[in-house]
Amino acid sequence: MRNLVYYVAVSVDGYIADPTGGFDAFLVEGDHASVVFGEYADALPAHAHAALGIEPPKTRFDTVIMGWNTLTPALDIGVASPYPHLRQVVASRRPRDVDPAIVLTDDPLATVRTMKREDGLDLWLCGGGELAGALLPEIDRLVLKRNPVAFGSGIPLFGSAPYEPRAFALTRTRSFESGVVIEEYASPGRA
Ligand SMILES: NC(=O)c1ccc[n+]([C@@H]2O[C@H](COP(=O)([O-])OP(=O)(O)OC[C@H]3O[C@@H](n4cnc5c(N)ncnc54)[C@H](OP(=O)(O)O)[C@@H]3O)[C@@H](O)[C@H]2O)c1
Repeated sequence: MRNLVYYVAVSVDGYIADPTGGFDAFLVEGDHASVVFGEYADALPAHAHAALGIEPPKTRFDTVIMGWNTLTPALDIGVASPYPHLRQVVASRRPRDVDPAIVLTDDPLATVRTMKREDGLDLWLCGGGELAGALLPEIDRLVLKRNPVAFGSGIPLFGSAPYEPRAFALTRTRSFESGVVIEEYASPGRA
């Protein structure tokens, strides 16, 4: 069975975006970029591949799942299908007019459970916080790009999910000169 991996940038105080949904405060440049642009290049949008002059490796993820609010910034800049090299699944409770490459789901938990039983590469949970909170019971691995900045407030890693402690095992930590720390955790049984 393949893994659902929540790979996401986060502040030291656990926010994935500022209160308005922006993420300018996260570090783009620095030595941690070798991981972002190399190891995790499947999780870059097509316009980033084009700008970098690279092809998506298609070795880590074959699917991305995101909440509607995470797709919106791409739509706002005229990008209807940001990750065409991946199967793109978007959670929404309403009818939405989307690019034919986007698969909508109003039951992301059931959709993820079905996809996890299929053969293939891992599933990338892109975010945002609300969707991650709903999918928390199905998250197998967390890969947190923890940035050396405190937001004070913003969009939390798991939205407003209820208090239900769920243990993860720390499997790897990498510290970079940039101050970014990439922390990896596995759900019990997946370590
Ligand atoms: N730091 C990072 O690496 C990173 C990564 C991804 C996203 N982000 C940021 O996160 C922010 C968005 O996070 P967010 O928490 O506001 O929103 P989100 O989780 O991206 O989207 C929320 C929307 O998704 C749909 N949704 C969520 N859970 C659902 C469920 N259980 N069933 C059906 N539909 C569901 C609903 O859409 P409808 O309203 O259409 O029903 C809901 O309003 C953005 O600002 C984005 O930039 C940051």
